[in-house]
Amino acid sequence: MKALIAAGGHGNRLRPLTYTINKHLIPIANKPMIFYALEKIAETGIKEVGITLNPGDTIFPKAVGDGKKWGVKITYIEQIGGPLGLAHVVKVAEPFLKNDPFVFYLGDNIILSGIGGFIEKFKKEKLNCLLALSKVKDPERFGVPEIKDGKILKVEEKPQNPKSNFAVTGIYIYDHNVFGILKDLKPSARGELEISDLHSELISRGFKVGYSEITGWWKDTGKPYDLLDGNQLILSKIETKISPAAKIETGVVLQGNVIVGDNSEIRGKSLIRGPVIIGNSTIIQDAYIGPYTSIGDRVEIYGAEIDHSIVFDDVDINTDKRITDSLIGKNATITPVRETFPGGHKLIIGDNSQVEL
Ligand code: DAU
Repeated sequence: MKALIAAGGHGNRLRPLTYTINKHLIPIANKPMIFYALEKIAETGIKEVGITLNPGDTIFPKAVGDGKKWGVKITYIEQIGGPLGLAHVVKVAEPFLKNDPFVFYLGDNIILSGIGGFIEKFKKEKLNCLLALSKVKDPERFGVPEIKDGKILKVEEKPQNPKSNFAVTGIYIYDHNVFGILKDLKPSARGELEISDLHSELISRGFKVGYSEITGWWKDTGKPYDLLDGNQLILSKIETKISPAAKIETGVVLQGNVIVGDNSEIRGKSLIRGPVIIGNSTIIQDAYIGPYTSIGDRVEIYGAEIDHSIVFDDVDINTDKRITDSLIGKNATITPVRETFPGGHKLIIGDNSQVEL
């Protein structure tokens, strides 16, 4: 069995962060999001992994590498023509996948449990396709199955009137029969080859499409708040680990589970209330870092109060304000109002940024 991960796409809903970074490289608990998908795949024993990217993306392969880190071999595949839909992703990967069954994993999905059980079921029941489902409150955001007597009748993409409260998650298993169907699949009204149409077509042509329910936590990190949720989930599982090369001044209070990386310094009257992860070579002085916060490498924070947030690498924060539920991109600076005229908040923010003052 092989695996295919989709790591291209528009990233529209995560702008402005995605102007400068492939969405799948956004850090969650100080690890690029895509690492979580790779870990889940490697756990199953799959060795060959294809990753599809938007044409011209050279940064991603440099950041992720050849897969040795996870004991797998990664082949990068250009999604020729650009992000033309998830069924298109599968289509462009046919030369890599050949006749082998494969797990198709959307790179922006994060789950807590493993996927080995889904593979077992796929093999045991000799299915042509297995869909991993998850119960959700807002099925209209997803592909939604219509289920009767334990069988999926069809799948609708982002329906206005969902036929169940299940989402088809971004974890699918297929055999080679999908390629026959992909030859005839037509783009939807929004111009994409829809994965849900592929599933409905498999069913209507009589192929065996089964499903398993993900009972634990599952997240499609499509929107900014989803990233914070994903970060919270991962941090809720961490255990305390302070690098011997970190310097924590006496007087600093660490509460709960806290990870501090190499050469970082926590100084003055700081209070770090975990779960919190702090990267390498970061300085925190007289600051409060509250639960569910990830702080990257080479960050400097003076005086601020921050919780439930993701602070990327190389950020400088010097303020007496409280920052919450925030995503602060690489190299950003947040400083106090300078004592020069005119007063007021001076903002240099990229297109599509969101600021609550
Ligand atoms: O997460 C589950 C949902 O994923 C399913 O319930 C939907 O049926 C499925 O269509 C998909 O919906 P999204 O709206 O979340 O799809 P999105 O466009 O965000 O793309 C999902 C991932 O695939 C994301 O990591 C980007 C990548 N992608 C997307 C497209 C359209 C590609 O690599 N290439 C593409 O052409």
